[in-house]
Amino acid sequence: MSDDSLRERIDTSKPHSARFWNYFVGGKDNYEVDREIGDQIKSIFPGLVDVAVTSRRFLGRAVDYLAGEQGVRQFLDVGTGLPTADNTHEVAQRVAPDARIVYVDNDPIVLAHANALLTSTPEGRTAYLDADLYDPEAVLKAAAGTLDLSRPVGLMILNTLGHVADYERARDLVRRLMAGLPAGSHLVISDSTATSEGMIAASEAYNASGAVPYYVRPVAEIAGFFDGLELVEPGVVRVPEWRPGAAGAVGPGAVDAYCGVGRKA
Ligand SMILES: C[S@@+](CC[C@H](N)C(=O)[O-])C[C@H]1O[C@@H](n2cnc3c(N)ncnc32)[C@H](O)[C@@H]1O
Repeated sequence: MSDDSLRERIDTSKPHSARFWNYFVGGKDNYEVDREIGDQIKSIFPGLVDVAVTSRRFLGRAVDYLAGEQGVRQFLDVGTGLPTADNTHEVAQRVAPDARIVYVDNDPIVLAHANALLTSTPEGRTAYLDADLYDPEAVLKAAAGTLDLSRPVGLMILNTLGHVADYERARDLVRRLMAGLPAGSHLVISDSTATSEGMIAASEAYNASGAVPYYVRPVAEIAGFFDGLELVEPGVVRVPEWRPGAAGAVGPGAVDAYCGVGRKA
């Protein structure tokens, strides 16, 4: 795709989730429209900044665990978002330089910045797919160009499933992605939860902004994404509390976001 046609696809009239989230993690790849709703939401619910920051730290710990303790060498990161510090391939390849990572997002701004995600080690590989979570079979087929889908994969879906309004549909999409991966694969999810009035108000404000809506779910529904998988200890917990190491919770403990890692037996 030419730079001009890519630029034409970038809609700066409405907030977009990748850019809005980039603003919350302190990035620079966002527009006025994203910062405006971002500032409005920070004033309603400052705790969303903690959710964004601690969720990225969770990504680091989960990938470190999978690459280090579980020997996973392949990752499929769906709903990648804009590149930031410690992207999945950087964390994985620090542990295992031969790790392969496929990133998937459907937002043209992420595609425009994808070069920063393609800085693989010489031993490993990274690829970017401009593809849609709503078509899991197409995602798997394209990912097979880079990953060996007969070997375990870490499927990462972080802060993205809330875009799928219908819970059963979201579960079905996760199930279909996992169905294409072999035993020993892991599902990694984090998501904002409807665990405080502030978070619910923030979600309502975001959804009124014209952006593709984002629905925050009860914790039990986040846990339900792992049905049929073996939940890795400590189970589904608030994101700072997942394997924080000797130091204890990584960041403020009471964030309105939960996470988990499940293994396919
Ligand atoms: C809030 S961001 C999360 C980014 C990153 N995973 C993180 O946790 O920092 C949600 C991402 O999901 C992407 N996304 C939303 N709907 C999608 C879809 N149907 N297919 C692929 N990506 C999608 C958005 O473009 C955005 O980059």
